[in-house]
Formats: sequence, C-alpha cells, structure tokens
Amino acid sequence: MLRSHTCGQLNTSDLKKEVTLCGWVHTRRDHGGLIFIDLRDRFGITQIVFDPSHNKDAHAQSEHLGREFVIRIHGHVRNRPEGMLNPKLPTGEIEVIADTLEILSHAETPPIEIDDRNLASEETRLKYRYLDLRRPTMQSHLLLRHKAAQAAREFLSSESFLEIETPLLVKTTPGGARVFKSPSRVHPGKFFSLPESPQIYKQLLMVSGFDRYFQLARCLRDEDLRADRQPEFTQIDLEMSFVDMDDVLSIGEKLVAHIFKKTLGVELPLPFPRMTFHEAMTTYGSDKPDLRFGLEFTEVTDIVKHSDFGVFKSVVDKSGRVFCLKAPGCANFSRGDIEELIEIAKTHKLPGLAWMKAEAGKLESNIAKYFSPAIQQQLLTATAAKDGDLLLFAADQYEKAANGLGQVRLHLGRKLNLIKDGEWKFLWVIDFPMYEWNDDANQWAARHHIFTRPHDDDWDKLESDPGQVRGKLYDIVLNGVELSSGSIRIHRKDMQERVLKVIGLTYEEAAKRFDFLLEAFKYGAPPHGGMAIGFDRLVALMGGQNDIREFIAFPRNKSTENPLDGSPQEWTPEFLKELNLKVDVAKGPK
Ligand code: AMO
Repeated sequence: MLRSHTCGQLNTSDLKKEVTLCGWVHTRRDHGGLIFIDLRDRFGITQIVFDPSHNKDAHAQSEHLGREFVIRIHGHVRNRPEGMLNPKLPTGEIEVIADTLEILSHAETPPIEIDDRNLASEETRLKYRYLDLRRPTMQSHLLLRHKAAQAAREFLSSESFLEIETPLLVKTTPGGARVFKSPSRVHPGKFFSLPESPQIYKQLLMVSGFDRYFQLARCLRDEDLRADRQPEFTQIDLEMSFVDMDDVLSIGEKLVAHIFKKTLGVELPLPFPRMTFHEAMTTYGSDKPDLRFGLEFTEVTDIVKHSDFGVFKSVVDKSGRVFCLKAPGCANFSRGDIEELIEIAKTHKLPGLAWMKAEAGKLESNIAKYFSPAIQQQLLTATAAKDGDLLLFAADQYEKAANGLGQVRLHLGRKLNLIKDGEWKFLWVIDFPMYEWNDDANQWAARHHIFTRPHDDDWDKLESDPGQVRGKLYDIVLNGVELSSGSIRIHRKDMQERVLKVIGLTYEEAAKRFDFLLEAFKYGAPPHGGMAIGFDRLVALMGGQNDIREFIAFPRNKSTENPLDGSPQEWTPEFLKELNLKVDVAKGPK
C-alpha cells in the first residue's frame, strides 16, 4: 500500500504516530509561511501542514500544489493548535505535519467545483461525471447503493435464493417496453435484443428447478425518460416456485425491511398495508397513492346524478363517475389558486374541475344553483365538509376522473405542505384488473403480460365478464412511487388458453411469439411467481430524493445521451462494414 491510513481515519488516539497519506488536494491555504492542505479521499479529509521550519523542501514543494493534485505525504500526527479545531470533521482535532511530499499526479484546473455547495449545470456534471462523483454527497450516494445491494444479497441468500445471471443478448418477446437492438456481426442481417427485464429467463429457471432465483439485473428499455426512469436501470429481480401471492408478498416486504434496517438502521413495521387497485383509485386517484397525507376522495356519483347540473348528469348517463376531493380550510382560495387546480386537471386529461365552497352550512359557487338544498346537504354530509372547506369535483369515465383528481390531490398535498419529510409510507397495491377494453380494436386487451394468473375466484368471469377479472398482481408503493411490481404466473396450457382467448389470441399464435417459454412449459413447469424491485428508485428514495440519476454512477441525460462518452454515436463506414450493414436513416425525431 502507498499509504498507512486513509484521510478519514486519524484522531487524537493517533498522536505522534508516523503516517503516510494519499489523496487529492481539496484546498490549499497559505498562512504567511505555513501552508495548509485539506487532503481528501473517499473516507474523509485530513489537514496537512507544511512548515518551512520543520521541513524546508516539503514546504517549498507544497507552494506549487494546485487543486485536485494527487499527492502522498509522510509526516506525524499532532494536535491542532487551540482555535483551529473543527468539530464537524472526525479528524478535526488533529493535523499531520509533513516531512515529505510526493506529487503522484498533476491536475489541470477542474471544470467543476468538487464542492457540494457549488453545483454545476446537469450537462456539465454528466460530462465530467468522474469529477462530480468526487463530491462527498455523490460518494455517500454510491456507498448507500452498495450497502443496499449487499443487504439484498445477504437477505435473499439467507432465504435460499440463488443469484443467477441471465443473458443480455436475447430475442424480442412482446412486452410492455420498447427494446434496444444490436446488430450481429457473425449473423449479417440479424440482430439481438437487449432485455427489458429477465422475465422469461427467470421463469425458465423455475422450469429448470432452481426454485428460488434472484439477480441484481440490468434492464434496458428504449423509452422516454423522467426523473425516475433511465434507459439502463437495475432491478432486484426474484422468482420463486411452489408459491402463491402471500408467499411472494411476505418475502418482498421482508427483503425491503432488511435493506432499510441494514442500510439506514430504520425498522419498518411489517406487514405492509394492502390496498386493492380499485380502493386506491377511488380513494386516492392513483394506483400508486402517496399515503403521507390524507385528502381522500368521496364518490358522489349517486348524489349528483339527481342534481340539475348537466355536466355531471351527462357523465353519469354515460356510466361515468363523479369523485369529490375536500380541501380542508381552502374556501379562501383565490380565483388564481382555483384556476391553477383546474389547469392541473386539464393537463391530466380532464375536461375541467368543478368546485364549491362550504359556507354557512351551504355550498357556494357559480354552479351551486344546480344543486338543490337537499342535495347540497347530502354532499356536505357525504364529504363531512365544514364551513371553510373547498370541494373539488371530477366527472368522467372511472379511471380518467379518478386519475385527474388524483393529480390535483398530489398538487394540493404539496401546496398545503402536507407531506412530511423522512416518512416511509409503504403499501402493497394488489388485485389489478387483468384486461381493459380497447375501443379502437373493439376488443379486450391485456393490461399486463399474458402469463399473469387470474385471481382464484375470478376464473369463471373470464368468459362472462373479463373487465371484472383481477390478476394476481402486486406492486410495492413507497411515498407515491411504484417501487416494485410482480405477479403469480400461469404455468399450465389449459389456463393459458383461456386467458389468451379473452384477447382474441389462440395458444398457437401466442406460442409463435413466446415460443421457447411455452415450449419449456410442456416439460413440467412448477407453479411460480415473482417480482422485481426498481433498485435505483429504492436507493434514491432511501437517500431522500426522487431523481434516480443522483444514485447511478454514470446515468444519461434527458435525451438518453451520455455527455461523458458522447453515446449514442454515429455509424461509421468501418462499423457498418464490420457488421455487413447498409444504413438508410429514415427522417424522424432526433
Ligand atoms: P416492471 O416493468 O414493472 O416489472 O419493473 C419493475 C420495477 O422496475 C422499476 N423500473 C424502472 N426504474 C428505472 N428506470 C426505468 N426505466 C424503469 N422501469 C421500471 C420500477 C418497477 O416497479 N419483469 C417484471 C417484474 C415481475 O413481474 O417479476 C418487470 O420488469 O420500480
């Protein structure tokens, strides 16, 4: 080793010790003769003193040190003089007086500050990511990520899961996400797909008898990005044989609890609460409700259908629904405040947002005249509204109405400062519908992948009422973010045939697309199910943020480019020659 200690290690128990330290010059201060260096590595910062009366050569050399030079010093530990103690640093009571200085490498002036208080623009941070990663905050993010990964491995191994890698060059199978493709050099004209998840392979591993599989799996999806989405991301992916839904849920929540305990020292109460998809939609207007605050909806369809308000009546006539959100104490909202809420509703596909204020035991607004006193009283009772409350109404088809009002709820939660930091509100959302009606195609479509197993009680609705069939599907939601999803799968041909028939597919047609999985199922497939936790999202939330890029070493910008390496890159003639390809780029979005 080139060093005897790290820069975060020394304290008063090391006084008088001879030490050798290596690291980056964080700051250099010239105090009339004495030169002080803050020497930094990932473990911390140690103050180094160059004193001409102690060692003239070392001092002379230190005059030429610049920021981010990599150096090695040899010296001994001593107390910092009175008045120079820094209680914020673990090494803040000592300093090292240098005997020798060796410059291991010079550094040009860094294009960004290695300082948490001085953030460069995102593009610059990504271009010089290796410098951005030197910041203590980024180092702590990746440390958190490492600890969480180790905790996941530790827990799953202790539960007899085997860590098995699955291929990255695969065949496209129809799934939710758009996949990346890579041309094959040895098979001109053919290409590989990059997996959006290890889904099919983990199911094959169940057919192979591995019983319990996991992987910290890299997934690749060619989709538009958001704060919680990257084209390359990581899942804690797992699959289990001979299980039903409760078994997977139990493992999933214990896994998350173990990671929280080991990484943050936080004890999560188990089991996580469960909520069905419909409860979540009709109460919070989201299949990933943020439970850090209330603002629950009341469904008022049956009340307002008797009103004279044409907008509500025509929605109800078309089997739509009307949901009401009570904003407590918000009757004093200005016209502008209310316009802001209406804009949010419109951005989320609602035609508008009706509102009434509770005042003197009645409802007031430009539409209140359409609601008889009796209906107004029913609304006040149903919503338990008091004078000073504001009632907001969304009327549309079920999911559209609920979702639009759900977005208004989230906005209000933030606007009214109802979200407390440092709270962990977990829940399982279960019983998602298997199918949705597709107006354009005039037939039922699968909402999830076609191997999802219907709820035991819903098999007989498959033919008679597909819209009511619930799948054995489950998501973990944390503070309004979808953290994981999973399902119990279909493992038998007769079950698969019935599920496919609803969406107008025969087994043979499906077999063409999923040939190797359905082929494998012929040879004895165990009942199985699993789930995948978005690892980047988990770590970001544990670190108190939503932007997963802050917890990924080398992420991409919003246009899927990496300013660091310049990828994606243009085709070159050499590249195409090697692949035996000719490229004719069609015009399209950049
Ligand atoms: P799903 O597609 O829902 O399920 O993914 C599981 C979890 O992965 C995270 N996630 C992402 N994180 C970052 N960037 C992305 N682009 C991204 N996409 C998804 C989310 C999500 O909940 N094979 C199934 C799981 C299963 O059924 O076992 C799957 O991949 O947190």
